[in-house]
Amino acid sequence: MERIRLIQVGLGFWGTSWATEVLPTVPSVEVVARVDPDPAARARIRERLGAAAGALFASLAEARRAVEADAVLASLPTNHHVPVCREALEAGLHVLTEKPFAPSLSEAIGLVRLATERGLVLGVSQNYRYYPAARRAAALVGQGVLGAPISVAIDFRRDAVAEGHRYPDIPDPLLADMAIHHVDLLRFVLGREPVEVIARSWNPPGSPFRDDASAAVLLVLEGGLVASWRGSWLSRGPATPWAGDWVIEAEAGQIEWTCRGNAGARLSADRLAIRRPGEPAEPVPLEPVPFPDRAGTIAAFAEAILAGEPPAGFPTGADNLASLATVAAAVRSAARGGARVRIAELLEAAADRPR
Ligand SMILES: NC(=O)c1ccc[n+]([C@@H]2O[C@H](COP(=O)([O-])OP(=O)(O)OC[C@H]3O[C@@H](n4cnc5c(N)ncnc54)[C@H](O)[C@@H]3O)[C@@H](O)[C@H]2O)c1
Repeated sequence: MERIRLIQVGLGFWGTSWATEVLPTVPSVEVVARVDPDPAARARIRERLGAAAGALFASLAEARRAVEADAVLASLPTNHHVPVCREALEAGLHVLTEKPFAPSLSEAIGLVRLATERGLVLGVSQNYRYYPAARRAAALVGQGVLGAPISVAIDFRRDAVAEGHRYPDIPDPLLADMAIHHVDLLRFVLGREPVEVIARSWNPPGSPFRDDASAAVLLVLEGGLVASWRGSWLSRGPATPWAGDWVIEAEAGQIEWTCRGNAGARLSADRLAIRRPGEPAEPVPLEPVPFPDRAGTIAAFAEAILAGEPPAGFPTGADNLASLATVAAAVRSAARGGARVRIAELLEAAADRPR
């Protein structure tokens, strides 16, 4: 089988999980080098993987000089994405980066333009797309099984204090870092683009987060379809799976679904049911996906490179701009006390000053 030769950049908490739990499961990817400036991070990977850790370097430049590669995985925090992605693309390497794509829309647009100019694949690891229930929900909506959608409601609840959240100081931990998953799923499942956003956010008493950890958002999609999203990192209620609890109401009934369980049991939370008016919910059997979660994004990335064309549903950087712009619109609306923010205005303004 053909494989892509990958340099993994970023070996922190999440990069270690990529290295030990994800990359070894994808046969179309051969890791030829790993990079982290922190010697302790490199030592940890060597200890965890032994010889399979492969060649370890302190910088991407060093790794590029030492090995032949096709692509880079940027498995590191958002504030480091742009320089790593830019260096890789300028060196002619395809790039898959962790979400959120970039700290600003203008930086993300700059990377998309660079990848397009160089004819390279640039993808964002929106891993929640690669779950059986999300795929099935998208297929049911696409086939119009219950007719046209009328409204969408999404609830996300976790108790970050009890569970241990590692980044309390990141900007907008709920809207920018977490809701990006749900907004991206909304676009993927409904097949429509968000047009405008109204949001309010707040920080519950005792919150360890610097920025607001709870929010309520209304999203108006193409065709006037309205989606409501409520989320909290500090919920006292029962936790939802990571994808949140979804209800898609349509002309002939509703689709209820969720996915992504906790670490160690990621596929255990998937479920989807159809509920017709006056009838009990009818569970729909789900088909397994060959490569779930992050294995799905990196397998699709490898396929895009090897086949010269991204497979259907692959979250390219260009596609991801709409997800990133939607959460940026929610952050702006919340900062303005719930003002209506049009997504096209943010995209146009950022496109005029790419970075
Ligand atoms: N998709 C998901 O389900 C999911 C879940 C959790 C976290 N994440 C994402 O993972 C990221 C957080 O990463 P983390 O938890 O590993 O952070 P971390 O702080 O544990 O580790 C960051 C690592 O990056 C290294 N680093 C910094 N600059 C570098 C550079 N230029 N080149 C190479 N390495 C560099 C640091 O030395 C450190 O080892 C965030 O973007 C977050 O959104 C995604």
